[in-house]
Amino acid sequence: MATEDRLATLRPGTADPEGMQPDAAAAELADLAAAIAFHDARYHGEDSPVVSDADYDSLVARNRELEAAFPDLVRADSPSLRVGAPAAAGFGKVRHSRQMLSLNNGFSDEDIADFVTRVRRFLSLAEDDPLALTAEPKIDGLSLSLRYEDGRLVQAATRGDGTEGEDVTANVRTVEAVPGRLAGSPPTILEVRGELYMDRGDFLALNAAQEADGAKIFANPRNAAAGSLRQKDPAVTASRRLRFFAYSLGEVSAPLADTHMDSLAALGAMGFSINPLSKRCGDVAGLLEIYADIGTRRADLTYDIDGVVYKVDRHDYQDRLGQVARAPRWALAHKFPAEQAETVLNAIDIQVGRTGALTPVARLAPVTVGGVVVSNATLHNEDEIRRKDIRVGDHVVIQRAGDVIPQVVRVLTDRRPAGSAEFVFPDSCPECGAPAARPEGEAIRRCTNSLDCPAQRLEWLKHFVSRDAFDIEGLGSRQIDQFVGLGWVSRPSDIFRLAARRDELAELDGYGELSVGNLLAAIEARRNIGFERFIFALGIRQVGQATARLLALHFTTPQAMLAALRPDADLEATKADLVAIDQVGESMAADLIGFFASDGNRAAVEDLLAELDIIPPERPSDDSPVSGRTVVFTGTLSGMSRAEAKARAESLGAKVSGSVSAKTDFLVAGADAGSKARKAAELGVTVLDEESWLALIGG
Ligand code: IVH
Repeated sequence: MATEDRLATLRPGTADPEGMQPDAAAAELADLAAAIAFHDARYHGEDSPVVSDADYDSLVARNRELEAAFPDLVRADSPSLRVGAPAAAGFGKVRHSRQMLSLNNGFSDEDIADFVTRVRRFLSLAEDDPLALTAEPKIDGLSLSLRYEDGRLVQAATRGDGTEGEDVTANVRTVEAVPGRLAGSPPTILEVRGELYMDRGDFLALNAAQEADGAKIFANPRNAAAGSLRQKDPAVTASRRLRFFAYSLGEVSAPLADTHMDSLAALGAMGFSINPLSKRCGDVAGLLEIYADIGTRRADLTYDIDGVVYKVDRHDYQDRLGQVARAPRWALAHKFPAEQAETVLNAIDIQVGRTGALTPVARLAPVTVGGVVVSNATLHNEDEIRRKDIRVGDHVVIQRAGDVIPQVVRVLTDRRPAGSAEFVFPDSCPECGAPAARPEGEAIRRCTNSLDCPAQRLEWLKHFVSRDAFDIEGLGSRQIDQFVGLGWVSRPSDIFRLAARRDELAELDGYGELSVGNLLAAIEARRNIGFERFIFALGIRQVGQATARLLALHFTTPQAMLAALRPDADLEATKADLVAIDQVGESMAADLIGFFASDGNRAAVEDLLAELDIIPPERPSDDSPVSGRTVVFTGTLSGMSRAEAKARAESLGAKVSGSVSAKTDFLVAGADAGSKARKAAELGVTVLDEESWLALIGG
């Protein structure tokens, strides 16, 4: 434990390498190699990582810095040489021509029934209209996009963040299961997506060989596949037995077929492996039957799977259904139940988050669950602790499912040590002492001190600079801790005024002229920032990246957003407008309004805006006749559901609003349109029937 804690909390040294003795450098390099390996194991093994990306990056950067100064001290197990060390392998970036999506998850039979109901409703299918669905194993590997031009493999890329991945062409060319040339007559452009994986037997053999060589041991076949792919030397990849199942398409110059199953068959004919358990069926019962069948075969398969993926078979339906955020509406992953293990709960810590939420965290005696070492688990909230009567010292059953944070399932009360006491959840903030309140009907207790609570403020600032927010190179959690501690940064705008402290910065341990220059340049570069990143960075409760994007498209400029959310504006109308955005609900709208109701927050936002140039969001399609126009739907549409109509309009760049006002450009009136149609007529808003609307948007 002691060593583990030391590795978990190791921070990069701050001594200037120029002035270091080789002994000291060698000792620090050994520490860095161990700490980075520790974090890699957590990260790649999908246990909850214990450092932020920025802190991890600072370890890697320090390692690189020391190695550059002492090339003779580069260790055989150096992270810069090892598989899976980000950045070190230096793969180029590839922008995906079509986004690589992830999947929404379902766990219960009910989730699956809901999925099918949602799809049918979205497509406005009548009860007796058929809906063909497919089911196939969810392979536990890593997804790849393979681009073929005139039947030849020209590029292979990892998923990355879905928009941009890494160019792994040279390595993928060595994988036998990926055809270099396609059979038959494929379309000129064909992007094939699928899963790269390793058979369990090959994984065990690889680990045995690695062990004999004193090389890295992989936690599971997926990590082994990923590590084998991310090799500097394609010959190493070639020596590993990697396999590939094709399961979907990216860009294609001509469709392969009208349905998913037929597309898979076409891919099979071109030379790809298609999972033989893929099946088509017609209803929920059929899906569940296949799920049960695949579940019973799971142990006999030669590769790991973690669920079953359901898809709508018809491609035209898939196109209509589109996607929400990063997942298609036309697919769902039905996950297998979680794996469980027993361990001892050593302590319950209370963490204070960015929005003041007091979150209890279980500190556990480390235990392996599903091949991964787990030492922390979430306890959710105080009710959960009370309901399960979880006490410090208890033997507990924990579980983890896929990439979900491990959870405490139940206490083994018969093994409870004598004299244990019920856990008392604090009613004040453990960080600032302010009362921690729990509003009626809510499960979460929150520190009431808002941004005056140092913990909330700190987490808020860390969120602000995090990867999906401002993402300033050289400015991560560690630097925020430091600058906040020095009193230099207390709100986001202060970051953009750090240039005034150039000399003081240069005097800090670990900084030199060069690194200060780099940091300030990185900050300068972020003065131009996309509106959606800006919104996400504000850290408003419930506003994640997907919502931030929707809000950016809705408001277009920060000024419009601030005006609409002014405490003295017509907030009921604003709320109605917000709720009309697909995916924005009442409670999210209330949190947004709540955030901007605070004078402190408004001042912080305005102060920040004075430092920035906000880049307006890119509209999905700028040349459509409804791009930038405000549309309201009312009445019953015959050809499509309201949800589909809304999603289509938004994908063409329109803003969809719930209420008619002078700003409305079109009211689309279906059958039985009522008061909105009258109001539109009064205001002189163009009213379209469903047919003219479809004609306007081109079908
Ligand atoms: S379809 C747009 N099918 O699961 C749909 N994904 O959790 C794209 N995966 O990123 C995915 N087996 O890496 C699909 N039969 C399968 C799959 C599968 C594994 C992976 C894939 C995806 C991840 C989402």
